[in-house]
Amino acid sequence: MSEPEVVVVADPAAATTLAASDIADALRRAVDTRGRADWATTGGSTPVGIYRALSVPPMRDTVPWPAVHVWWGDDRYVPRDHPLSNVKPLDEVLRVPLPTANLHPFPVDWAIAQMRGATWAAAWAADDLRSAGLPTAEGWPVLDLILLGIGGDGHLLSVFPGSAAFDSPDWALAVPAPTHIEPHVERVTLNPAIVGAARQVIVVVSGGGKAPILAEIFGAECDPHRWPAQLARRVGATWIIDEAAAANLPG
Ligand code: 6PG
Repeated sequence: MSEPEVVVVADPAAATTLAASDIADALRRAVDTRGRADWATTGGSTPVGIYRALSVPPMRDTVPWPAVHVWWGDDRYVPRDHPLSNVKPLDEVLRVPLPTANLHPFPVDWAIAQMRGATWAAAWAADDLRSAGLPTAEGWPVLDLILLGIGGDGHLLSVFPGSAAFDSPDWALAVPAPTHIEPHVERVTLNPAIVGAARQVIVVVSGGGKAPILAEIFGAECDPHRWPAQLARRVGATWIIDEAAAANLPG
């Protein structure tokens, strides 16, 4: 297993500030190089402070937002304005000149309104991603940046330990509501292989509650099916971890 860059910072606020700065740099670099930036953002509590930091100077004004496309690594199968939606925090907090057409959420609202189901929403999202015409690596789309949080069970995206997603050729798929971890809500997620194809991955982990699982993720045993977060233990990934979460890290 190759190793990522690991940056330990004092507290969640420092992690948020550094992550926002690294995201801004990655987006600027992508637009400078390729004329656009494709960024898959995360759910959970991780991104809210990051969106807030990106929404004020200097980053609000130095990122070429009209050339940025935002995707979601995963979402919950709830309406966009539902408290558990992974889109709602971005809608409410990220105040930057991002064209609406550049937002590519899973079409959960449509799917619910038309009673189509999560599988349809995942397939539609995969088609939307395919139609973006991104370069591919081993058949997977190459995003410029993926922002990730890590669950207490070692999951990333909505890919839980032992997930069937590891055996799927689909770029996106539906995930039954997990019973072992909150929220117990059906999900839609990008395929975990997309983490390995991305040009850059930023993982943000804060709080002592994540210290035990981080020690396992960074332990000697390599088993992404057991610890999906190990897919982000790779060159090209930066793990931004606060001291509380890093407390049990080896070495
Ligand atoms: C989700 C996320 C999930 C999240 C982790 C960490 O939909 O819940 O995409 O992968 O990033 O569970 O969540 P916190 O940042 O809230 O700890």
